[in-house]
Amino acid sequence: MTPPRKRALITGITGQDGSYLAEYLVGLGYEVHGLVRRVALEQPELRLGRLRSVLSQIQIHPANLDSYASIFHVLSQQRFDECYHLAGQSFVAESFADGFSTMSTNINGTHYVLAALKELQPKCKFYFAGSSEMFGRVHETPQRETTPFQPRSPYGISKVAGYHLSANYREDFGMFCASGILFNHESPRRSFEFVTRKISAGVARIKLGLASELRLGNLEAQRDWGHARDYVRAMHLILQQPEPDDYVVATGEAHSVREFCELAFAEAGLDYRDFVKRDEAVHRPAETDLLIGDASKARLVLGWQPTVGFVGLVKELVQADLELLASTTQQNPSAVHPG
Ligand code: GDD
Repeated sequence: MTPPRKRALITGITGQDGSYLAEYLVGLGYEVHGLVRRVALEQPELRLGRLRSVLSQIQIHPANLDSYASIFHVLSQQRFDECYHLAGQSFVAESFADGFSTMSTNINGTHYVLAALKELQPKCKFYFAGSSEMFGRVHETPQRETTPFQPRSPYGISKVAGYHLSANYREDFGMFCASGILFNHESPRRSFEFVTRKISAGVARIKLGLASELRLGNLEAQRDWGHARDYVRAMHLILQQPEPDDYVVATGEAHSVREFCELAFAEAGLDYRDFVKRDEAVHRPAETDLLIGDASKARLVLGWQPTVGFVGLVKELVQADLELLASTTQQNPSAVHPG
């Protein structure tokens, strides 16, 4: 007899990670459900675009991270084996502009999901999307699971709180709660406000003659950049372990924004020095120190490793944006590319 299909709930399913995870789990034979804001159902072309390839195979439920009642309602209707909590305000710069809403959504949203699971489905495994931003002013390099946290942004603080909430539900109530401490992970599905996509979309606009410059903040900032498709595999592996635990997920290699620009412009046959301009307005009040992850534990225990390196990642983003912009402008020559 075939075992029943596993059922997974993904919060933040419309985002970059949520969409890759949904595809991955559907491919593994899961019954996949997602929480989305009601507005997404009203504008499916705009808000559910990343889910295009799996939309007919998944189930979507309206709920709001700011509302315990709406989360409780969904969890009281359906049983799940695994819950991946990816939803939240994820743009670090925005958290400096409006720390209150970042804190409220990220901390309360996590707390609501955990509390509703405890009440209704305490056996459901819970994944928390932790972040390298939790390390902030780093105590050691590279950072691993035992490195102390010292966040430097309201976003980082909210992620530390979510991490501790998850650990508390694990320790106090015996629930299977685990965190992935994920370093930056990118893809052609990244939103345009993040630096990688801002650069690849900027390169495409310049190459196609729609822009003449790209304004960026700190070019010397370094990040450990991996591919989002690799990182969602780690999320799944984290919930397949016999015991709940926390894992750093990273490539172990750091590169600067400047290096990213150099490669990205070169991919389109351009020299970044001719187009990139400094924009003081994009500088952040505080930067993290050098964030590089040591994912030895994930490699050893989960058997996880990244398949896409820095050069491959940059090429993929630039090629995807060149194709996207070329097809958009062909269909509608007056279209202005977002970003
Ligand atoms: N966004 C942006 N725009 N960043 C810029 C720019 C610019 O014009 N110029 C330089 N940077 C620098 C930022 O100062 C930062 O040091 C670095 O580029 C990366 O910025 P982001 O791409 O916005 O990502 P992030 O590192 O702040 O946060 C991302 O990674 C975290 C760790 O995985 C987000 O995905 C977070 O949600 C995630 O937790």
